[in-house]
Amino acid sequence: MSKYIRAKITENTPVNKGHNLLVLSSDNIQQHPLPGQFYMIGTDFSYDPLLKRPFSIFRETSSAEGGELQFLYRIKGKGTERMKEMKKGDTVNLFGPLGNGYPMPGKNFTPVLIAGGIGIASLFPLAEKLSGNIHFFYGARTSGELLMLNELKGLVKKELIISADDGSEGRKGTVVDALNVFLTSNPQLLTSNFLLYACGPSPMLEAVSKFAAEKGIKGYISMEENMACGVGACLGCAVKTKKGYKRVCKEGPVFEIGEIVW
Ligand SMILES: Cc1cc2nc3c(=O)[nH]c(=O)nc-3n(C[C@H](O)[C@H](O)[C@H](O)COP(=O)(O)OP(=O)(O)OC[C@H]3O[C@@H](n4cnc5c(N)ncnc54)[C@H](O)[C@@H]3O)c2cc1C
Ligand code: FES
Repeated sequence: MSKYIRAKITENTPVNKGHNLLVLSSDNIQQHPLPGQFYMIGTDFSYDPLLKRPFSIFRETSSAEGGELQFLYRIKGKGTERMKEMKKGDTVNLFGPLGNGYPMPGKNFTPVLIAGGIGIASLFPLAEKLSGNIHFFYGARTSGELLMLNELKGLVKKELIISADDGSEGRKGTVVDALNVFLTSNPQLLTSNFLLYACGPSPMLEAVSKFAAEKGIKGYISMEENMACGVGACLGCAVKTKKGYKRVCKEGPVFEIGEIVW
C-alpha cells in the first residue's frame, strides 16, 4: 500500500555531471516495491516547487525496522535543482510506492532490457531481480549521460551493448539502431519468447514501439510523463492508448509495448 513517508537523506552525491544518487532512510519504509514502481518526492517545507516529482526506485532495502530507498536523478529543472542542494541529514517527503511495476517474464522468455539515459534508474532493479540473466542495451546522447556502467558490467550475464548517439562511447547511433544490428546478426533470438522491456525518453520509446511492431516483438515500456498528483486524481498524466486515455501514474507507468498511440 502507498503511504506518506518522511525520510532522512543519508547521501545525495553526484554520480557524474548532471546526475545525483539520492539515498533516503526511514523507519517507515517497510515495503518491497516492484521494479518499475515510483515515488513522488518533495523537498522538505518548500512551496517552490509546490508539487512533488516522480522518481523510479533505483534500489531498496527494507525490513520490519525500516529501510533505505535509492533514487538516481537527472538535474533538469526547478524541482531537481532544489533536490541537488539538499544535504545529508535533511528530510524529504515522499509518497509511494506508486504505479504498476514490470511484469516478470515467464521461465522460458529471453528478457531484453533497453534503457535510454536516466531510464536506467527504472530498469536497473529489474536487471537485479532477474539476476543479470538478460541482454541489456543502454544508450544515451553522449558518454557523459551513461550511468552505472561498472555496475551494469558486473551484473549483466548475457550481452551488454552500450551506445552513444555521438559515438563517444560504445556503438555510434541510437540504442534502437544497436538493437537492430544485434538482431540482424542473431536472428535466432527473434522467437516468440523474446520479451522487451524499455524505459527512456519519449522519442526513444516511440522508436522502440515502432521497431517492436515491425518485428512482432512483445514487451513493456515505462512512460515518463509530467505528473502533478501522482495518484490518478488530476488526469494531468493521461496518454492516448488503443483502449482510450490512461493515466501514467495509475494504469502505468508500465504499459504493453503496442498499447500507446504515438
Ligand atoms: C514514473 C516516472 C519515473 C521517473 N523516474 C525518474 C528517475 O528515476 N530519475 C529521473 O531523473 N527522472 C525520473 N523521471 C522524470 C522526473 O520526474 C523529471 O525529470 C522531474 O519531474 C523533473 O522535475 P524538475 O522540476 O527538475 O523539472 P521541470 O522541467 O522544472 O519540471 C518538470 C515538469 O513538472 C511540471 N511542473 C513544474 N512545475 C509545475 C507546476 N507548478 N504545476 C504543474 N506542473 C508543473 C512541468 O510540466 C514540468 O515540465 C520520472 C518520471 C516518471 C513519470
Ligand atoms: S498525475 Fe494526476 S492523474 Fe496522474
